[in-house]
Amino acid sequence: MLENCWNQKYHLEIFGCQMNFHDAEKTAGILEKMGFTKADTAEEADVILLITCCVRENAENRLYGHLGNLKPLKQKNPELIIGVGGCMAQLPSVREKIAEYHPHIDLLFGAFNLHQLPDLIMRIRETGSRILEVPGDGEIQEDLPVTRESSFRAWVTVIYGCNNFCTYCIVPYVRGREKSRRPEKILAEVRRLAAEGIKEVTLLGQNVNSYGLDFPAAERTDFADLLGLINQVEGITRIRFQTSHPKDLSDKLIRQMAEAEKVCEHLHLPLQAGSDKILRMMNRKYTRDDYLRLVDKLRTRIPDLALTTDLIVGFPGEEEADFQDTLEMVEKVGFDAAFTFAYSPRVGTQAAKMENQVPEEEKMDRLYRLIEVVNKQAKAANQRLEGKVETILVEGPSPKRKEIFCGRTRGNKLVLFTPPSSGPDLIGTEIKVKIKKGLTYTLQGEVVDREVF
Ligand code: SAH
Ligand code: SF4
Ligand code: F3S
Repeated sequence: MLENCWNQKYHLEIFGCQMNFHDAEKTAGILEKMGFTKADTAEEADVILLITCCVRENAENRLYGHLGNLKPLKQKNPELIIGVGGCMAQLPSVREKIAEYHPHIDLLFGAFNLHQLPDLIMRIRETGSRILEVPGDGEIQEDLPVTRESSFRAWVTVIYGCNNFCTYCIVPYVRGREKSRRPEKILAEVRRLAAEGIKEVTLLGQNVNSYGLDFPAAERTDFADLLGLINQVEGITRIRFQTSHPKDLSDKLIRQMAEAEKVCEHLHLPLQAGSDKILRMMNRKYTRDDYLRLVDKLRTRIPDLALTTDLIVGFPGEEEADFQDTLEMVEKVGFDAAFTFAYSPRVGTQAAKMENQVPEEEKMDRLYRLIEVVNKQAKAANQRLEGKVETILVEGPSPKRKEIFCGRTRGNKLVLFTPPSSGPDLIGTEIKVKIKKGLTYTLQGEVVDREVF
C-alpha cells in the first residue's frame, strides 16, 4: 500500500446506517495507512470523502446542497480531493448528476471499492483528472485496515448485500446480493478484537439471519452456529447483531439466543407495517400473526428480551384501516423503541411505480400519531425497569452533558448516571446500576457496584 501522504489530512462525513459507519472506519484505516491523519475540520483537509446513504429520497437533495457548500474549499485549495462514496454513489442517476453539475467532485467510489482508494487517490494526484467510474469486482475484501471509533466495542460485518427486495427498498440495488464472510475469517477478527480489549461485538448485515445460506449445504455454518462460535471467544462479554428479518428468524436461532450467555437480550426485528395487505405489497413474506407468534416464542424463551423495530407509514395503498392495524400491532407487542419512517418513493423500486401513493400531509399525520403511541410504549417499558439493577457497559461522558456519564444495558437501553470520582476509569468496563427513573429515550441510574470485569 502506498504510504506517501504524510503530513496530509483527511475528513470524512458519514450518513446512513451502521454499515456505512463501519465502512467509514475501514476508509479511515486505509487513509491512515497511506499516511493521512484525521483533520479537525473540513477546512484543513487535503482529502474529503462523503460516505452517503440513499434509503430515503431527501438524502439525495441534501447531498447536492452539501456538495455546493464544499465548493469554496476547492476554490481556495485546488489540490483538495473531494470524493463521494457509499450507497448513493452506486446509483447511476447520482453519478450522472455529479459528473455533469458538480465538476469540483474528483472521485466517485462505492462500498466495493474501498480497497482501491489508495490507488484512486494517487491517480487523481498524478493526473489531475477526475475518476467517476470505478468497476467493483464484488469480491469480499478481507483484512482491510480499520480505525475503530471505540476501544471497547466493535462492528463486525458477517454478511454483505441483500436478496429480499422489499418493494420500497433501494438497498439490494446498491449493496448487491448476499455474500457471507467465511466463519473462520469472522472468528479470527473477533479473537483479534478481544485481544485488543474489545468487550462487545455487533455483528452486521442487512439480514444476518440468512448468514451462511450462500455456502454449500454440506459445510454450512448458519447464523445460530456462528453465534455459538463467537460466544466461546474469551474476553468478549457481549454479542449483538443487526438486522434480523422476521421471515428468517428460526427456532434454532431463538434457542441459541437464549442459551449463549454472551448474546444480549435485545432483538431489532423490523415489523414495517401491521396490515397483512401492506405487508404483502411490501413483499415482506410474513403476516401479522406470524410476527406475533415469533414475539410469543421469543418472550417465552427470553423473558427479559428488549424488542425494537422499524415501522413505515404511508406505503402506497395504505388506508386509515391499514394504519390502524399498525397502531394495534404496536400496542399488542409493546416495543421498547421503534424507528419510524414516512414512506419515501425510491426510483427503481417496485413501490415507487405503484398506484395510490399517499399524500405527504397524510403520511406526516400518521407518522406523528404513530410516534405518540411508540413513545408511550417506550416510556412504559422503561418505567417497568425502575428499581431493577442492570449491568451496563460504560461508554463515557454523555454527548450533551459532560458531567453525566452513559452506558448501555444488555437490552441496549441508554442509562445516564453521575459517575463517582474515578469516572474515567470506568469507561469500557461493566458496572451495576440501579434504575431510578424510566424516561422515553433513556433511563436514569445510580451506581451500585463497580463490578469491573
Ligand atoms: N436491512 C435492514 C435495514 C434496511 S434500511 C432491514 O431489513 O431491516 C432501514 C429501514 O429504513 C428499514 O427497515 C425501513 O423501515 C426503512 N426504509 C427503507 N426504505 C424506505 C423507504 N423507501 N421509505 C421509508 N423508509 C424506508
Ligand atoms: Fe431493504 Fe428489505 Fe433488504 Fe432490509 S431486507 S435491506 S428492508 S430489501
Ligand atoms: Fe443507507 Fe446504504 Fe445503509 S442506503 S441505510 S447506508 S445500506
